[in-house]
Amino acid sequence: MLAKHGVVNFMLNNQYELLDFGQNEKLECIGGVVVRRETPSAPGGKSAGERWGQSQLRGRMIAQRYVWDGVPPDDWRFNAGDFQLQLKATPSGQVGVFPEQEKNWEWIKHCPIDLAGLKAINLFGYTGATTLALAKRGAQVVHVDAAKSVVSWARANAQSSGLADSPIRWMVEDALTFVRREVKRGNKYDIIIADPPSFGRGPKGERWKLQRDLFQLIESLSELSRERCKMVLMSCHTPGINHERLRSEVENQFHFESGLGGSFSLELRTRNAKTLPSGNCFRWVADKS
Ligand SMILES: C[S@@+](CC[C@H](N)C(=O)[O-])C[C@H]1O[C@@H](n2cnc3c(N)ncnc32)[C@H](O)[C@@H]1O
Repeated sequence: MLAKHGVVNFMLNNQYELLDFGQNEKLECIGGVVVRRETPSAPGGKSAGERWGQSQLRGRMIAQRYVWDGVPPDDWRFNAGDFQLQLKATPSGQVGVFPEQEKNWEWIKHCPIDLAGLKAINLFGYTGATTLALAKRGAQVVHVDAAKSVVSWARANAQSSGLADSPIRWMVEDALTFVRREVKRGNKYDIIIADPPSFGRGPKGERWKLQRDLFQLIESLSELSRERCKMVLMSCHTPGINHERLRSEVENQFHFESGLGGSFSLELRTRNAKTLPSGNCFRWVADKS
């Protein structure tokens, strides 16, 4: 078991800090901008009193629409060191980065096996952070997301990260449909990555419901990687699926042999150790051979 591998404190050259959270709002410094935003997953009370009034950007639901007040800088960026993500205030309340994944980017960066030339699939890839972490290590990545706009955004992030010529295929597809098609085609992958939301829609309106579909997805992914699996990283953010359950479902399907794996909670933490649960994760990497 990997203990506390998923805790992100203030981090990465001042690119991210959770300043406070509570009453369904987060106060964060992201890429140098102080952002206050409503999010259903920030329980408890607030503590950083006066700082809440000092945000440069504020996101909240008004009449069932997510509305932003304030204007972010034109060139608002998150510099992760090996790659960069352009940030934008979007109507979903997201800004283009999920900083709770930072420990997983580091894990990919430092994982002991050579990823050069390995074939990876990254499902629900959003703006490309994990895709770019893999590409930086030389993996060939198939990046899959249902939203054309975020796939274009991920491509632009590859370009600004100096990874435009990396072997990345950008797919606007429904994740489960794409995986099933790949299984039928007999395609195989060495590296399996998925970070599914609780609910989603494919480009043709296909419904993704994690509680219903996750285990079918894991089963199909195990077929994609049979006999050549080198790395698996799966995370989710859905109540009712804790990391032990995620781990047992993945291990039941994948039958890992020699390697190192574990599961843990993803957490964001303020400087004074106030901790915000931010999902669950399982990861495994094969032994160096
Ligand atoms: C939680 S975000 C993933 C975050 C990403 N792993 C990261 O760390 O940057 C969820 C993504 O899933 C995509 N999505 C939702 N439903 C989908 C579906 N049925 N097939 C493929 N992608 C889908 C959304 O467009 C969104 O980009």
